[in-house]
Amino acid sequence: MEFKRTNMCGDLRIENVGDSVVLMGWVAKKRNLGSLVFIDLRDKTGISQIVVREEDKDNYEKAKELSAEYVIEVKGKVFERESKNPDLATGDVEIIAEKINILDQAKTPPIYIKDDDDVSENLRLKYRYLDMRKPSVQRNLKLRSDIVRTMREYMYENGFTEVETPFLTKPTPEGARDYLVPSRVNKGKFYALPQSPQLLKQILMIGSLDRYFQIVKCFRDEDLRANRQPEFTQLDLEMSFADQADVIAMNEGLLKELFDKFTDYDLKLPIPRMDYKEAMESYGSDKPDLRFGYKIKNVSHVFKESDFKVFADNTSDGRSVRAINFKNIADKYSRKQLDKLTDFVKDYGLKGLSYIKYQDNIQSSIKKFLTDDIIDGLKESLDIEDNDLILLGADKDMTVLEAMGALRRKVAKDNDLYEKEYAFCWVVNFPMFEYSEEEDRYVSQHHPFTMPNEEDIDLLLTEPEKVRTQAYDIVINGDEMGGGSVRINNSNLQEKVFKALNLSQEDIENKFGFFIEALQYGTPPHAGLAYGLDRLVMLFAKTDNIKDIIAFPKTQSATCPLTEAPSLVDDKTLGELGIKIERD
Ligand code: AMO
Repeated sequence: MEFKRTNMCGDLRIENVGDSVVLMGWVAKKRNLGSLVFIDLRDKTGISQIVVREEDKDNYEKAKELSAEYVIEVKGKVFERESKNPDLATGDVEIIAEKINILDQAKTPPIYIKDDDDVSENLRLKYRYLDMRKPSVQRNLKLRSDIVRTMREYMYENGFTEVETPFLTKPTPEGARDYLVPSRVNKGKFYALPQSPQLLKQILMIGSLDRYFQIVKCFRDEDLRANRQPEFTQLDLEMSFADQADVIAMNEGLLKELFDKFTDYDLKLPIPRMDYKEAMESYGSDKPDLRFGYKIKNVSHVFKESDFKVFADNTSDGRSVRAINFKNIADKYSRKQLDKLTDFVKDYGLKGLSYIKYQDNIQSSIKKFLTDDIIDGLKESLDIEDNDLILLGADKDMTVLEAMGALRRKVAKDNDLYEKEYAFCWVVNFPMFEYSEEEDRYVSQHHPFTMPNEEDIDLLLTEPEKVRTQAYDIVINGDEMGGGSVRINNSNLQEKVFKALNLSQEDIENKFGFFIEALQYGTPPHAGLAYGLDRLVMLFAKTDNIKDIIAFPKTQSATCPLTEAPSLVDDKTLGELGIKIERD
């Protein structure tokens, strides 16, 4: 470089007219109009127009050499433009070049550097360094950085110490598969990449750190979705001598600060709390989307004595008939569209879906069973008016609730039924265990270090399904943004929980021996929480795709198109690790 940069490309305004400036950046566009060459010069802040005149022989020749994405430095003077460009922040001015130097040449880029290019995601990720030059990606990465900064400052102000915990560690039970790393020095042994720093942050509390936080990568080998990555980032925190109310208050303060800074929305505190049971019963989800109503209603009593056997048979023994009244949209649904909804709920394990279109003449898939009594019963439960669409399903409670919950979200999305921009709640009183058909035993709903509700502790070994916990999830717009709990701080109770989980003594010793031992040396009452940082950034960036807010995300099949990870390893390296691969 011959010069020192004086300004960024997006900086210059009418006040700069007359300034002598040096800009550096990438050639976004070049137009040759005979006696003049116009260059759009781009950096992360925006674009400036550079003008090169034909009589300025040296620079004119240099400008002719330029192609898209060449890196150049330009020294010049700022002039007011004759024809201004209102679409560009710098559109009032242009720079008449005095000296242009080429700092690097560029091959023809395989993707266009513009936001509305509809090239495949794979190609974008393969050339992420080009994709990243687009304003939208720049904006998202900057937003992410600003959010992280706000979080850090808030944590420091509130007495938290940032501590790094290791990546090469032992398995942490968060319910996904572990990523394993073979040890060369200890052949045959493996580290696990942490699914979260759960155990180590609790050990930090035993170590009297008092308040810990970390912005930390977590690794989970699980099926990927639009809001899931195999490695993702948490804002992880833990507080000693704190209970559920303390953690919730601390985090509401943080959320308020984030919403004040990154949205125009005035978040009112406290955020309402909802019982897990209510969330499941009324919204069919432990992360209810409260931007719209359309609660699920139990209408089993209406069909108990009905001739419609499919429903009547689903009114007892943990089975039920559930309905949602979607107000005033019956006319929007044709037979064909209703069939599509039936296909949709089948993916959630529901065998069928019945409908009632309450119009002048009732149309219904179960019309012949709709006696006056049934219609009256439904009217009473569902507040039915003209043009309402009632959808009904029947099955095991959990199956029908989850399917109706998914249906509720889909119909709301398809018809844009949202009434609010943001809707928040803390979901509380989660059950401690859920029964895993696959493992034929109870498994933890949250993780096994979660404190049961005091009044339920006696049920741990007798009626585990009834035990509720001091766990809480923060849910925003139907997405689980974070979760945490009060922890067990007593080794006897911790062992009892492991017993309820049917873990053998040997298993407990192998997996958590170090932790049980640590619990015996004076453990303060403690509680904490972790946010999915990526999900929070998605919320503020207003995107549904987690890849939009990660610099180098993985694809659906957990690969990186840029580096081509994961990759094969040669036999020598494998040999050193004592690993043999069976290749087909
Ligand atoms: P949990 O497992 O609920 O809790 O994780 C906390 C939050 O992390 C986010 N999250 C993810 N984000 C992107 N991709 C993923 N694969 C992914 N998995 C989870 C979610 C979730 O709410 N140790 C506990 C926290 C605690 O108890 O303090 C834990 O990890 O937003």
